[in-house]
Amino acid sequence: MHIVLVGMMGVGKSTIGKELSKSLDIPFLDIDDLIEKSESKTISKIFEQSGESYFRKREMEITLKALMQENKAIISTGGGAIMNKVIRNNILNRSISVWLKLDTSSIMSRIGKNNKRPLILQNTKVEIEKILEDRLIYYAMAQIHIECKGKNIKNCANQIIKEIGTGSYGNVFQI
Ligand code: S3P
Repeated sequence: MHIVLVGMMGVGKSTIGKELSKSLDIPFLDIDDLIEKSESKTISKIFEQSGESYFRKREMEITLKALMQENKAIISTGGGAIMNKVIRNNILNRSISVWLKLDTSSIMSRIGKNNKRPLILQNTKVEIEKILEDRLIYYAMAQIHIECKGKNIKNCANQIIKEIGTGSYGNVFQI
């Protein structure tokens, strides 16, 4: 089974995913990177030139392709992918899903000023919380919830490994 990381922009899905990949020796797939490579453009450029709906269509195709692949992977999804019902059902049915939780102020400082995310224009508390409000119920459907506040990357990754090990997910490390 894949391990799929979900959660808001800026929570550290990619960095924690890479750490997990190293620790578990399972390949890492970053959906945002795969979208950028497939279009030979940054996410911002895709939004700017083709619009959000085109981006969401590509996000669905690429995320589903990653989820369908046989070889087990650690998959970092884009923060908005969970809003798509097809993606969501596939994540929930085909993987061990992990929600990385972080408070708004920490998200704001992680996103910072040099923001490559087209949905974050001001990087204010109001803006982040407005996006989060619609997504919370879906993130919360993930099997494992990890509070990342006050933890470094290694600690978050270790906690995920521990939770997977103690949960009833079968022996995922050997599948
Ligand atoms: C988005 C999150 C981004 C990227 C795009 C849209 C979102 O990914 O897919 O900018 O809707 O939350 P990260 O969560 O990896 O930043």
